[in-house]
Amino acid sequence: MIKTQNLPIALFDSGVGGLTVLKAIHRQMPQESILYFADTARLPYGTRSPETILQFVREIIDWLSNQRVKMVIMACNTSSALALETVRAEYDLPILGLILPGARTAVKQGKKIGVIATPATVKSNAYAQAIQEIDSTAQVWQVGCPEFVPLIEGNQIESVYTKEVAQEYLYPLLLKGIDTLIYGCTHYRHLEPVLRSILSPSVNIIDPAESIAIAAERELGLMSLKNDRLPSPTRFCVTGSAKQFAGLSQRWLGFYPEVEKIHLLESSRIEMTLKSSEGI
Ligand code: DGL
Repeated sequence: MIKTQNLPIALFDSGVGGLTVLKAIHRQMPQESILYFADTARLPYGTRSPETILQFVREIIDWLSNQRVKMVIMACNTSSALALETVRAEYDLPILGLILPGARTAVKQGKKIGVIATPATVKSNAYAQAIQEIDSTAQVWQVGCPEFVPLIEGNQIESVYTKEVAQEYLYPLLLKGIDTLIYGCTHYRHLEPVLRSILSPSVNIIDPAESIAIAAERELGLMSLKNDRLPSPTRFCVTGSAKQFAGLSQRWLGFYPEVEKIHLLESSRIEMTLKSSEGI
């Protein structure tokens, strides 16, 4: 029987965005094993309703719990903004989200903070609330960027159109004279060269992926859950095309990953059937 501390940490996102969190976790805690889950069949999440996002998150955490993991990291701001508080109370697992770690880091860097995020995250107001709870003197402006995730998942990062869209999204924040910009969606770090080329070099960029990696390490330490064995290779699971995810992600991973396609609902139905036949 594997000890709880030697189980993997699970990370989930709608797609390749969470790879930015995966890399930060690897840098911070190279000794940990990771299960990376991407709900690619149902992305993007950021234009969906809060109810749908919560339902998807519950389905994912149900599935992850059955895989035996010691911690769940929401490598997705949209899920963190809309579902974290609810699911934390529902599961007997440590679950971490990006908003608070990102907000804490941002207020240390500046007072005029821009947030670029999915429409659902912006609508939730989660970043503005978190920042102002920490520092009521900080000013926050948020911009919803619905086109970014489809462009990144569609491998359009270098296109002229992507740069035009980025200029349009950043324009209102440039007008406000922001000194700090938060990537309020894990996909956006993949656009760093494009975004950096538009922003003044004096603007601090905050990637909450870095902050959550530090928070996760602290949490594992507090719970005595740090892995003390050799880590296993990262396991990649997706709900959409395994080939497409592997092809797209290799540019960030630096290798062509082995990817499993899984059926979220079928597996939870099978598990439910098993449980009921076992009389649980
Ligand atoms: N990468 C996710 C986030 O951080 C989700 C993006 C999406 O699917 O719209 O918000």
